[in-house]
Amino acid sequence: MNVPLYEKIWMWASGILIVAFVTTIVVGVAGSALQPPSHVETIDPTKVWNDPRFAKRGVSVDEHGGAATVVVIAMMFAFQPAEVHVPANRPVTFRVTSADVTHGFEIVGTNGNTMVVPGYVSQFTTTFHTPGEYLIVCNEYCGLSHHLMSAKLIVEAQP
Ligand code: CUA
Repeated sequence: MNVPLYEKIWMWASGILIVAFVTTIVVGVAGSALQPPSHVETIDPTKVWNDPRFAKRGVSVDEHGGAATVVVIAMMFAFQPAEVHVPANRPVTFRVTSADVTHGFEIVGTNGNTMVVPGYVSQFTTTFHTPGEYLIVCNEYCGLSHHLMSAKLIVEAQP
């Protein structure tokens, strides 16, 4: 088959691009443990403060397995609670919902990152290996004071 040089260049260029795109996905999944959310749970966004699932906000630690659950409500322009303490080297499940508009929930420097959409409960589980203080930011523009919307995560070393 006679393929002109010009066409060969384009074929190779598109082939390289496809390999590059697939590589970014593989690196994200295998290297950084990034994954799409798979949890679908709905909630009435006008009643989150009274919903039993969000009545007790903050951290609860399972005494037997040691896994922790963090329940957070995002609103314009804060997270409630604004500071959470979790154990290092144990699975931590975050359950976040919004009381108003779409927010983001990104734990800077970790793979903890989710969109917080009103009407849904965003849930993900991750493990923090390095004790210390982490910044939680809203990374979805949600209004005039979006840039002020942050919280603190303290990962505590276990004895
Ligand atoms: Cu909440 Cu930006």
